[in-house]
Amino acid sequence: MRFTFLAIVVGLAVGAFAQSSTADAYVASEASIAKAGVLANIGPSGSKSQGAKAIASPSTTNPNYLFTWTRDTSLVFKALIDQFTSGEDTTLRGLIDSFTSSQAILQQVSNPSGTVSTGGLGEPKFNIDESAFTDAWGRPQRDGPALRSTAIISYANWLLDNGNTTYVTQTLWPIIKLDLDYVEANWNQTGFDLWEEVNSSSFFTTAVQHRALREGAAFATRIGQTSEVSGYTTQAANVLCFLQSYWNPSGGFITANTGGGRSGRDANTVLTSIHTFDPAAGCDAATFQPCSDKALSNLKVYVDAFRSIYTINSGVAANAAVATGRYPEDSYQGGNPWYLTTIAVAEQLYDALIVWDQLGSINVTTTSLPFFQQFSSGITTGTFASTSETYTTLTTAVKNFADGFIAVNAQFTPSNGGLAEQYSRSNGQPVSAVDLTWSYAATLTAFHARTGKTYPGWGAAGLTVPAVCSTSGSGSSGGGGGAGTVAVTFNVQATTFFGENIYITGSVDALQNWSPDNALLLSSANYPIWSITVNLPASTDVQYKFIRKAPGELIWESDPNNQITTPASGSFTQSDTFR
Ligand code: NOJ
Ligand code: NOJ
Repeated sequence: MRFTFLAIVVGLAVGAFAQSSTADAYVASEASIAKAGVLANIGPSGSKSQGAKAIASPSTTNPNYLFTWTRDTSLVFKALIDQFTSGEDTTLRGLIDSFTSSQAILQQVSNPSGTVSTGGLGEPKFNIDESAFTDAWGRPQRDGPALRSTAIISYANWLLDNGNTTYVTQTLWPIIKLDLDYVEANWNQTGFDLWEEVNSSSFFTTAVQHRALREGAAFATRIGQTSEVSGYTTQAANVLCFLQSYWNPSGGFITANTGGGRSGRDANTVLTSIHTFDPAAGCDAATFQPCSDKALSNLKVYVDAFRSIYTINSGVAANAAVATGRYPEDSYQGGNPWYLTTIAVAEQLYDALIVWDQLGSINVTTTSLPFFQQFSSGITTGTFASTSETYTTLTTAVKNFADGFIAVNAQFTPSNGGLAEQYSRSNGQPVSAVDLTWSYAATLTAFHARTGKTYPGWGAAGLTVPAVCSTSGSGSSGGGGGAGTVAVTFNVQATTFFGENIYITGSVDALQNWSPDNALLLSSANYPIWSITVNLPASTDVQYKFIRKAPGELIWESDPNNQITTPASGSFTQSDTFR
């Protein structure tokens, strides 16, 4: 008995230590390889960039990635700009300047999505000679302008700090403004998701648009372009409101796209958490910060979606790290795990650890409970101060869990350290595009977060989600997929006995999709009128019923269902008598 116990403790400790020492070793060997991998693929003298300012990968067949994608390039350069502005690598300035100047050129290139003033900024990729790519493609993709303006604003803020005002206002601001105006006008239009497949509204796209508009408003203020501020700020509030609608409360995860007909579990959501991380925003759930209860619950659901589908994950404990891919239904190039998605999980967890350390506590809510139960089966909701044993237990386990994702990538990185796009779900061999610039950049940013390093935030702290969403983008004509939500108050008259309560469920996520178990409790503050206010999708037919529940009792209202059509905007009150 005693030996068994000791063996388990030692086994756990060795397992934990093994993950972290594998991660340590991988960081030590891979960091310089990843940095060199990025540099080889960018800039006129990059050894693999073939003269291009940036390529996604030097692969030219199956798949041909010798193009400049706005998303990949912007994410990669954001990582480099952070290294430059933080003083970590002062040699990058020339490359950053060549990035901004080539993006200024690409903005003006007429392409199948339009001209610079008619939607062309949503074009996802260009030929490496800076001409338009004219073959069929999933276009437009509306995350590009947002990600690009975020990258350039972070560089411009550093230049302003260092007195280079003229270059910022005359050269960079016009580039930034084109992108921000595009986001302001088009955020509520549908487009293709970051994986270039689903044409709808997409969580990653909406979230990075929100970030861009917030920091765009602050940046415009900083340089005295005050006429832009209210437009960006107004639309930022509307985008933040819409962002909430991706949350699936019954599933405990963020649904990646409004279309697509998939389960909705998608690396899109984890990538959002790390690319909209603001160290000053605490564990705010409205912006899905890495340590927010919603983002942690989502991380668990996302990771669990890959446990049983990949052979290389078999035999791994249910609470240990596994290889993850874009989304479980993926079949592109075999539908395998990706380096950049697996390591993004680690990065989200490192970001969370940074903020818990700053806050001096961990707050476990009913939403994040399943995430934390992976590490402590007896954990309850509550706030655990950094002086408590529970805090130490949880943070040690989360750190080890995070290191596990690094260790998984380490296991499937070939001996030369090269990072392709994917590795085989059946045997871990590299698959698809070799030397993917984004794989290397994602590795670098995760390694940085692991050391506790943070970069300037973007104003995510203390934001208020408007009670009612408006979808009227300033320059747009509707018709988009970004249908917002409206606040609907349900009042129902019901006489109940002591211990009996009234609940509601119905045909939409926000009403828990006809689940009597997860039905929403109404307030009896104005008894016998029971009441609740719920954000429901605008302009939608919604069916619902009230339920009486008491211990051992569950009584549905009699048929038929009740139905309302929600208004396009504003709020709405519905009054019923329990049937
Ligand atoms: C190429 C895109 O780059 C990739 O993301 C997508 O999965 C496939 N096309 C689908 O065919
Ligand atoms: C396919 C990925 O799905 C997409 O996100 C990326 O932009 C391109 N490959 C280029 O790396």
